[in-house]
Amino acid sequence: MEILFLKVLVLVTCFVGLFSYHHPGISSGGKKSSSKKTNFIIILADDIGWGDLGTNWGKRKDTPNLDKMAMEGMRFVDFHSAASTCSPSRASLLTGRLGLRNGVTHNFAETSVGGLPLNETTLAEVLKETGYLTAVIGKWHLGHNGLHHPSFRGFDYYFGIPYSHDMGCTDTPGYNLPPCPACPQHPTITSSHLRGCYPEVALPLYENLTIIQQPVNLTSLATKYTEKAIQFINYAR
Ligand SMILES: *[C@@H]1O[C@H](CO)[C@@H](O)[C@H](O)[C@H]1NC(C)=O
Ligand SMILES: *[C@@H]1O[C@H](CO)[C@@H](O)[C@H](O)[C@H]1NC(C)=O
Ligand SMILES: *[C@@H]1O[C@H](CO)[C@@H](O)[C@H](O)[C@H]1NC(C)=O
Repeated sequence: MEILFLKVLVLVTCFVGLFSYHHPGISSGGKKSSSKKTNFIIILADDIGWGDLGTNWGKRKDTPNLDKMAMEGMRFVDFHSAASTCSPSRASLLTGRLGLRNGVTHNFAETSVGGLPLNETTLAEVLKETGYLTAVIGKWHLGHNGLHHPSFRGFDYYFGIPYSHDMGCTDTPGYNLPPCPACPQHPTITSSHLRGCYPEVALPLYENLTIIQQPVNLTSLATKYTEKAIQFINYAR
C-alpha cells in the first residue's frame, strides 16, 4: 500500500503550514501588525523529487516561482525527510521526532480511528503558545477522528482533505493513478473494490471541523488551496 501511495500522490498532494506572528493586543483583522517574529510557510510535497524543481535540474521549467524564491533566498540542499511515506513524514516534521519515537511508522487508513498520538507536541502548538496564528492547508493524514483533527493539534485554521486523494471515491474518476472510481450515483449500486482506492467513502473536504464538500472536486482543489492560503496570509500578516 505504501509503495502505491508514493506513485499515486504525484498530484498536488501537499501540506502547507502557515505560521504567522500575531502581535498581542493588536487586532489582526486585515491590518498590519508590527510583527517582531518572522512569519513563515512550510510546504511539504509528498512526491516532489529532487529533479522536479528547475532550481535543481535546469531542464525542468515547471516551477518558476519556487525557482525564483531559490534564486533570491537561501538554499539548504541537504534536508532529509524522516520517512518516504505520507503519515510518518508529516508526523516527524510536526514533532521533530522519528517515527520510532512518535509512534507513526505507517500510513493511516481512512478506517483508522487513531492518529498522531495525542501526547506528542506539534510545531504548531509550540508556535501558538508564543503568539503565532497557525494554519494548515492541504492533505493532513495524521488522523481524522475526534481530537486527531488538525483543529485540535495546534492549528487555528484548517482547509483540506483528511487523507490522500485516492482514499475515497471522487467526482473526478481517472484523476488519480491508478484511477479511483466515481462515487456511485445510486446508493444501491455497490462499487467493487479497486486496488489502491477506497471506493466506499467519498473523499471529504474540510474547513476547520466542517465538511464543506463531499466528494471533493479534485479538479478545482489546488486552486482552492491557493485561494485559502492567500486569504490566510492576508488575514494574518
Ligand atoms: C507518548 O506515549 C507513548 C506511549 O506511552 C510513548 O512511547 C511516547 O514516548 C510518548 N510521547 C511523548 C512525547 O511523551
Ligand atoms: C476556523 O476556525 C478559526 C478558529 O476558531 C476561526 O477563527 C475561523 O473563523 C474559522 N473559519 C471558518 C471558515 O469557519
Ligand atoms: C469541478 O471543478 C471544475 C473546475 O472548477 C469544474 O469545471 C467542474 O464543473 C467541477 N465539477 C463538479 C462536479 O462540480
